[in-house]
Amino acid sequence: MSFLPAEIIKKKRNGGELTSDEIEEFILGYARGSIPDYQMSALLMAIFFKGMTKEETLGLTKAMLHSGEVVDFSSVKGFKVDKHSTGGVGDKTSLILGPIVAAAGAPVPMISGRGLGHTGGTLDKLEAIPGFNTQKPLPEFIELVRKNNICFIGQTKEICPADKKIYALRDVTATVESLPLICASIMSKKLAEGIDGLVLDVKYGSGAFMKTPALAEELAVNLMNIAKGYGKKVTSLLTNMDQPLGRYAGNSLEVDECVAIMKNEKFIGPQGYDLYEDTRELSLRLSAHMLLLAGIGKTEEESYQIALETLTSGKALAKFEELCKIHGGDLRNVPKPKYSMKITSEKSGFIQGFHTEAIGVAGILIKAGRAQTTDIIAPTAGIEFHAKVGDEVKSGDTLFTLHGDDQDLLASAVPMLKSAINISLQKVSKPSLILKVLS
Ligand code: URA
Repeated sequence: MSFLPAEIIKKKRNGGELTSDEIEEFILGYARGSIPDYQMSALLMAIFFKGMTKEETLGLTKAMLHSGEVVDFSSVKGFKVDKHSTGGVGDKTSLILGPIVAAAGAPVPMISGRGLGHTGGTLDKLEAIPGFNTQKPLPEFIELVRKNNICFIGQTKEICPADKKIYALRDVTATVESLPLICASIMSKKLAEGIDGLVLDVKYGSGAFMKTPALAEELAVNLMNIAKGYGKKVTSLLTNMDQPLGRYAGNSLEVDECVAIMKNEKFIGPQGYDLYEDTRELSLRLSAHMLLLAGIGKTEEESYQIALETLTSGKALAKFEELCKIHGGDLRNVPKPKYSMKITSEKSGFIQGFHTEAIGVAGILIKAGRAQTTDIIAPTAGIEFHAKVGDEVKSGDTLFTLHGDDQDLLASAVPMLKSAINISLQKVSKPSLILKVLS
């Protein structure tokens, strides 16, 4: 055997540059099962520490993309557009913007991921809806997008099988926060979808993989260069993940939040403002950019108004109900948590910030996310947020509520959540949701 995986691992470990043939052989070997998890884990860790050049990142993306098929959407009319987020806590916008954009006229074929590290995943959220099946064969995926303008699936044996395996492995080997690995994971999935355009929601802050706006911008530029190299239209939004998005993080709770928003409901929290507002606004802004790429609306504002009308008229909700139906999901029976546990403030002052990653880890402790690839998610487990950065709280006010079906697990997450908030007497202004748009 001329190809020795340990030699490739050693080369990367020593800071060498891998050739595209070496990358391809390793990735395809892993996808087919001839390279075991322990060697892939070692290579991932070497990439994590030593990074990759632009050429290596492109080679990795290509190898992952061609580990499966590229969907041929030539039978589906219209500009196929999708959105992908680099990952956050309470980041549930796909469930709202997919239906908005599909109902407004652009086909949305979405290949999504599960929770990754401390962040949530669209597939896990959708699977909190009883019966919702995200594993569809390719011909059915194409047919559903043709008929309904929308379908959500996960990486499969046919589409991006390498990402399916590597994604699950990164999740449990602390190898998520790596620019080349994130780039290749996202772009291989998105290029395999056969889309015409892509909106990237690139998150920065304490709950994102990229902790600063500068790192997030670097990731956005890399992602966009790959997309453009494949002839795709692309826009990136740099958005704030220094605090969780919306009212809830946790799968069935996030589905409830999305449905409430699509029903035009508000949830006025103890601070006197609507705790759904940031989820709603980000979903609308991302929808507007997707519609703009698809030529539905001539300016961002015109596309925004189309998205808004589609949401407020109930058309997005009707599309979401249709989506649940085609995937076999029973939206009327989304499970509710049995227990809840409040966490109150031990002092008075202003919320300076959150350690949002720790909130995501608290979510894993209560089984809203996975600690091991084989872990089963508890769909009702989650965290409710009652106040956000800049809010004034008094000692004894509720900051978080833990929800779920296992009281011992909920109790185990309390110390982590208590340490995830910073309160002091200094007044702070509220952060803006969207920092920058790159197109
Ligand atoms: N989303 C993905 O699909 N992959 C990553 O690596 C990070 C976010």
